[in-house]
Amino acid sequence: MSIKVHESSRRTRFVNAFRSHVPPQPPGDGRPRPPQRLEVFGTGTTWIQLTWSALGPGPVEVRCGDRSVTVDADGGPGAATLTDLAPGRLHAIHLRGPGLPGPLPPLEARTLVPPPGELLHRIATVSDTHIGSRSTGFLHTIIEKPEPDEVHPVRCARAALREARAWGADELIVKGDLVDHSRPEWWAQAASVLEELVVPISVVPGNHEWSGRGDGDPAAGLARHGLQLVTDVAHVDRPGVRVVLVDSTIPGQDPGRVSDVLDRTLDIAGSTDLPLLVAMHHQPLRWRVPTYLPAGIPGPEAEHFLRALGRANPRTLVTSGHTHRHRRRHVGPVTITEVGSTKDFPGTWAGYEVHEGGVVQTVHRIAEPSCIRWTDHTRRAALGVWQLWSPGRLGDRCFTRTW
Ligand SMILES: [Fe+2]
Ligand SMILES: [Fe+2]
Repeated sequence: MSIKVHESSRRTRFVNAFRSHVPPQPPGDGRPRPPQRLEVFGTGTTWIQLTWSALGPGPVEVRCGDRSVTVDADGGPGAATLTDLAPGRLHAIHLRGPGLPGPLPPLEARTLVPPPGELLHRIATVSDTHIGSRSTGFLHTIIEKPEPDEVHPVRCARAALREARAWGADELIVKGDLVDHSRPEWWAQAASVLEELVVPISVVPGNHEWSGRGDGDPAAGLARHGLQLVTDVAHVDRPGVRVVLVDSTIPGQDPGRVSDVLDRTLDIAGSTDLPLLVAMHHQPLRWRVPTYLPAGIPGPEAEHFLRALGRANPRTLVTSGHTHRHRRRHVGPVTITEVGSTKDFPGTWAGYEVHEGGVVQTVHRIAEPSCIRWTDHTRRAALGVWQLWSPGRLGDRCFTRTW
């Protein structure tokens, strides 16, 4: 079934003329082709995730020392994860098998060094699932056609949570834009997805929840399903970390703010011996005037917030969504990350392994075949610039922060 959205709109008819859809089958004559965009996307302390836009068709063994995994590559996008690797080491990864047209040089990747002390707690995050939407790209020109029974935002969010459960998540934080607009049917869909993970769940709002294009009361929308939307600022203490949940939204507007929650956030930050993981939707900008879209928290306000947070508790990692991209930077002692959307390229969720002496952030591409086929297709957003803009560097996504 094809999508019919505002068919009477002249603009939409224009946009439809340029719409693209993900091909149902990888092209080719059945013979293996050279891999395309084969790369190391993620590294943990003991694992490495490889992803590709095209591999095969045919079986391919991915080997690293005495660890190996065999994938039945279908000629299109996919992912493979090697596990139980030695931490803090440079590893050579070899691929071979009938799914390759010839020998490949090995890939190299370094596993992360774990922080000191015991692993105490694992927190998964997702953001920008946009349940209810059916298209992506700046003009929403990228759609699924024919539309599957389970549309890509739902499918990708569900797969992310399944993968987070397999990873061992003790807890889930949703960093906003869970639904595309606050509508009862989309909250119901979101709630059905969140049931994939039977762990404590916290939900901070994004600009889409407060866009005003839904029923106007997102807190009530989520509360109908037994979950509380964070308003203002909240916190929970977990083994080895205080989780601080910040509502950075301005109802009816896309940019964010933190000035009105600053004092209460500082009280929470300074009243514990635990380090902090701060989750919010909007990214702190560097400058007063945004230099890219979507706009986040204006630079001077963000800088004031982060500097004060660093003085109150120097052992702090702040993570946001909203931009659907991956970045890492530092303001004083505070580490700040942006993590991408589940539903568009590269299609990710994040994990935080809290140790006694620090935290490991890892970003995972959602590997479920129908999801990665879709998210890889959405590389082409923004005339193809999106595939360069969104992923960031490996060190933006996966790193160790010691406290
Ligand atoms: Fe978003
Ligand atoms: Fe957003």
